[in-house]
Amino acid sequence: MKTAKERRSSNWFGRDGKDGFIYRAWLKKQGIPAYELEGKPIIGICNTWSELTPCNSHFRELAESVKRGVLEAGGYPLEFPVMSLGETLMKPTAMLYRNLVSMDVEESIRANPLDGVVLLCGCDKTTPALVMGACSVDIPTIVVSGGAMLTGRHMGKSISTSDVWRFSENVRAGKMTNEELAMAEAGMCRSDGHCAVMGTASTMACMVESLGLSLPQNAAIPAPDAARKVIAQLSGIEIVKMVKEDRRLSDILTRQAFENAIRVNAAIGGSTNFVIHLLAIAGRMGIQLELQDMDTFSNGIPLLANLQPSGSYFMEDLYYAGGLPAVINALLPHMNKNCITANGKTVEENYNKAVSYNKEVITDLHAPFNPLSGIVVLHGNICENGAVIKPSAASKHLMQHTGKAVVFEDIDDYKHRIDLPDLDVDENSILVLKNVGPKGYPGMPEVGNLGLPAKVLAKGITDMVRISDGRMSGTGFGTVVLHVSPEAAAGGTLAILKDGDIITLDVAKRTLQAHISDEEIAQRKAIMKPNYPVATRGYVQLYQQHVEQAHLGADLDFLKGGSGSEVTRDSH
Ligand code: FES
Ligand code: MG
Repeated sequence: MKTAKERRSSNWFGRDGKDGFIYRAWLKKQGIPAYELEGKPIIGICNTWSELTPCNSHFRELAESVKRGVLEAGGYPLEFPVMSLGETLMKPTAMLYRNLVSMDVEESIRANPLDGVVLLCGCDKTTPALVMGACSVDIPTIVVSGGAMLTGRHMGKSISTSDVWRFSENVRAGKMTNEELAMAEAGMCRSDGHCAVMGTASTMACMVESLGLSLPQNAAIPAPDAARKVIAQLSGIEIVKMVKEDRRLSDILTRQAFENAIRVNAAIGGSTNFVIHLLAIAGRMGIQLELQDMDTFSNGIPLLANLQPSGSYFMEDLYYAGGLPAVINALLPHMNKNCITANGKTVEENYNKAVSYNKEVITDLHAPFNPLSGIVVLHGNICENGAVIKPSAASKHLMQHTGKAVVFEDIDDYKHRIDLPDLDVDENSILVLKNVGPKGYPGMPEVGNLGLPAKVLAKGITDMVRISDGRMSGTGFGTVVLHVSPEAAAGGTLAILKDGDIITLDVAKRTLQAHISDEEIAQRKAIMKPNYPVATRGYVQLYQQHVEQAHLGADLDFLKGGSGSEVTRDSH
C-alpha cells in the first residue's frame, strides 16, 4: 500500500509555495475543484485517438468510460494524447514510428504528475509502442484495447482484411471484376474497431491479455459492443486499485509471463509481428528473452482458435465463443498459472472457470484445429541470427522444399519485374527479396508476403516459398520466411544471393540453407556494395543509425531498459 504522500503526484499537488500554486492553479482552469487534487491517485489516460488512425477513431468515447471508472474508484483522470500510428495510411510503414511513439509515451508519463496510467491501444503498432514506453517508466499500468470491428460483408459472405490479399490476386488472375472489388471495399470496414481477424492488432490485444496487462476478456470484445465500454470503466476502477496496491509492470511482466504470451500466441495462430514486439517489450523490462524462445515455448502448442488467417472465423466469433479466456482455459496445463495479472489475481484464478461456447471456434487440447502452430525459428547460412515462419499460415507441401532463387534487389526491382513474361520463374522457384529489413527499408515494411508472378498465378497456383528480411501483415498468409537476420543492408548473407542459387527450406529441421560454399559466400561478400537509401537527417537518420536487427526486436539500441519513474527537478 502506498500513502497519498508517497505517490508521485504529491510532488506536484502536495507542494506549498510557488511551485504547488503553479501546478494546481493552471489545472483548475479546466474546472477542477480543489478537493480532486488533494491526495487522490492521478491517473493518466494515454490516448491514441486520431482520425488518421481509423481503427482508433472511437477512443474519445472509450476514454470517457475509463474516466467514469477512475472517478468512481476515488482517483482523478487526466487524458493526454500521444502520436498515433495508423497502419493503413502511414508511409513508408507505421513500424518506422513504433520506437518514436514509445519515446513520446515514456517521457509523457515520467514528466507528468501521474501515479498510474491507462493505455488505450488499438491499431497494430499503437499497442507495442505504448507498452514499450510504459515499461521504461514502470508505474502501475493497465491496457484497454479498442476491440475489433464487426466482420465485413460482401455479396452474402463474411470478409475481412485477410481477403484483401486474395482479392488482389483474384483481380490479377481475372477471377474478380473491378466492380466487385469496389463493392468489397464498401463492405469491408463497417464499424468502429481494428482489423477483424487474428492480424497484428488482435494479436497484440491477445498478447496484452496473456501477459496479464489487461482485465480478462479485454482482447476480443468487439469495438461496438456495449461490453467494450464496460471493460473500459472496470479498467478505470482497477487502475486506481493498482496504484493503491503499487502493482507495477515489473510485478506482472516476469519471464514466466512472457512464456505464457508465446504459448497463447501459438494457440491463437497470432501474427509473426508478435515476435518483434514481444522481444522489444522484454528488452525494455530487462527480461532475457531470445528469438529461440519463440520456437521453444510455442513448440507443442497446437492451434486452438479457428481464426483467419490460420483458420476460418473472425474476432467477433472468438468473443461469442468465450473470448481469449476460453483459449487460455484450454491451455492452462501448459501455462505458468501463478503469474500475477493486472487485477492482482493469478492466471489460474482469472481463467479456471472460462468455457468455450462453440467448439468450431475455440477447441481444446484433445481436438486441435492444427497440431502445427506458433512460430518456427529457422537457422542456416542465409540467416545466421535467425528467421521466422508461421507454419499454420503456410502450405504443407512447401514445408520442405528445394528450389532455384529468383532474386529481387529491393521492392522496386520486384514491382518492375514480377509480372514480366520472360521472368525465369515457376512454382518451384523461391522468391527472394532483399533490402526490406529494419535499416534497408527503414521500419521494415510488411511486404514479405510478395504477390506471386502473374504467369504462376495463371496456372492456378496460390503459394510459393518466399524469403525476405521484411515483415508480413498479421493478416497475410503463405509459405513466407520473414525477419531474416542479419538483414541484407546490415551485410547479411541474404545480400549476396543471386538468381539460380539453390535454396532449401526445411521447417521440421528448422533450417534455411543456400547451397553455396563458405568460400563462395566470403568471395561474394568481399565485393558486395550496400544497396539501400541512407537518410541524412532527422528521425529516419537516427533510426537507421540505432535500430537493432529483427531478432532483437528492432528497438533503438539506446531505448533498451528503462529510466524508472523518478520525479525530476522543477522547471520554475
Ligand atoms: Fe488498424 Fe488493421 S489497419 S488494425
Ligand atoms: Mg498490419
